Amino acid sequence: MDLMTNALRGEGIALSFGGIKVLKGLDVEFRAGEITGLIGPNGAGKTSLFNCLTGAYSPQQGAISYAGEALNGLPPAARANKGIVRSFQHVALCPDLTVRENVMVGIARNGKSGWLDAFLPLPRGIREREEMARSADAALADLGLLDVGERFPGELPPGMQRLVEIARAVVGKPSVLLLDEPAAGLNNSETRDLTKVLRKLASTELAMVVVEHDMDLVMSICDRIYVLNFGEIVASGSPEEVRSNPDVVRIYLGSDEDD
Ligand SMILES: Nc1ncnc2c1ncn2[C@@H]1O[C@H](COP(=O)(O)OP(=O)(O)OP(=O)(O)O)[C@@H](O)[C@H]1O
Ligand SMILES: [Mg+2]
Repeated sequence: MDLMTNALRGEGIALSFGGIKVLKGLDVEFRAGEITGLIGPNGAGKTSLFNCLTGAYSPQQGAISYAGEALNGLPPAARANKGIVRSFQHVALCPDLTVRENVMVGIARNGKSGWLDAFLPLPRGIREREEMARSADAALADLGLLDVGERFPGELPPGMQRLVEIARAVVGKPSVLLLDEPAAGLNNSETRDLTKVLRKLASTELAMVVVEHDMDLVMSICDRIYVLNFGEIVASGSPEEVRSNPDVVRIYLGSDEDD
């Protein structure tokens, strides 16, 4: 298998709202086997780019593909079925479902199981539900969360809620994992735990993309980094290359790096 072709690509992506150019025709490539960072000041367009890649936004121009297959026009659920999943900048767990059930929703997104079946009181549904619960528990165990499967998200500290979101994203074994500010709202020790979790999730089959303001996290886990400013890629390369790029230094000295 040629891993280089297993990449999520965006070419010439241009997005505007009411005449305001949010993304100005940018090219990105997120490869399997790599953790790619996407950094840049507030309002640079990072979340908007994720929204274009996942199908939440339709860019006015540009091509989006995974492993050479065009994704333009496919709605988010269809892209999720193809293994392209995300977590959100603001934790988006269902408060009335247990942690385990929240993670089970991630299997439904994968599209292989009949999610409705799993909640019907038929033998088929019960079997399906048990299988989903087992997969959810395996994902929770990987993230050190097995103990809290029966709890509700609101009972957990923010760091754990983030990890539950990640468990929900990875339970369906995605090929592309887009994480929007996974360390937002976490304290230092929670961020360290998250860093370990992300390293553990990295694999040759997975293209992981991390939008993050926490530079220590980005610099320590990423193989490659794109720097976005005002809807344009202004730098890309290894953490060392990006860190020593004068344009990047200027952008970060001119804004709040610790934000
Ligand atoms: N649905 C929308 N309608 C109008 N403008 C939008 C919409 N979505 C994003 N924008 C604008 O696009 C620009 C980029 O926003 P975006 O959320 O992508 O930035 P970001 O890099 O994720 O910032 P942050 O680091 O603060 O999360 C902002 O000016 C924002 O107001
Ligand atoms: Mg954002």
